[in-house]
Amino acid sequence: MKNRMLFLSSLFIAASALAAQLSAETKILALAGSTREDSYNKKLVKEAAEIARQSGATVTVIDLKDFSMPFYDSDSEKNEGMPANAKKLRDLMISSEGIIIASPEYNGSLSAVLKNALDWASRSEDGSPSRDAFKGKKFALISASMGPGGGSRGLAHLRAIIENVGGEVIQQQTVVPTAQNAFDQNGALQNAAIKDQLKQEVKQLLVPAKAPQPA
Ligand SMILES: Cc1cc2nc3c(=O)[nH]c(=O)nc-3n(C[C@H](O)[C@H](O)[C@H](O)COP(=O)(O)O)c2cc1C
Repeated sequence: MKNRMLFLSSLFIAASALAAQLSAETKILALAGSTREDSYNKKLVKEAAEIARQSGATVTVIDLKDFSMPFYDSDSEKNEGMPANAKKLRDLMISSEGIIIASPEYNGSLSAVLKNALDWASRSEDGSPSRDAFKGKKFALISASMGPGGGSRGLAHLRAIIENVGGEVIQQQTVVPTAQNAFDQNGALQNAAIKDQLKQEVKQLLVPAKAPQPA
């Protein structure tokens, strides 16, 4: 009995050490699907990034405004190759283990700027389809919108797109309805229950993704 207890406690210590090591080494990319200066989704993604940092992850927050790229067009891809900013974004995704996306809801779906960025990220530099920016990675989806649904209709579309290209999307998602009233003047979320939900979701991102399955 004593030996069994000793074995179980050493197993627990080893598992805790492994979990701590994994979260400390986890590289997270965080971005919002809005380029608007005062975007609620930019505020929300910063909050999520801070939670990930406090849990020991290395987090890079980017603004898609700094990654402007043309609309995907297979003719220009053939003639001019992948735009420099699309390659930059794709490389960042490839070198991350987890990706947080705060997606605004436009007419019940995701924004064009985000969809376009994901379409480019699903291509390789030689102009063929590629899942490298998605496969074996975990995605946490969050949304802030001015409507009562908090952007959940848009997240359903975003989830389907990411799963379609091989990304693992965490089941839980966090939405912020009536976002115009949800943040204080420093851009921090005011609702404790939503904050707690966000914490739970981000923590799930720090658990390693399932091993990628062959295509
Ligand atoms: C074209 C367009 C469509 C929109 N559609 C929706 C919608 O379907 N649901 C919703 O809750 N808000 C909708 N909104 C309002 C957005 O929630 C609001 O603009 C929000 O601030 C966008 O996110 P951001 O602050 O991160 O830019 C729409 C806004 C625009 C410009």
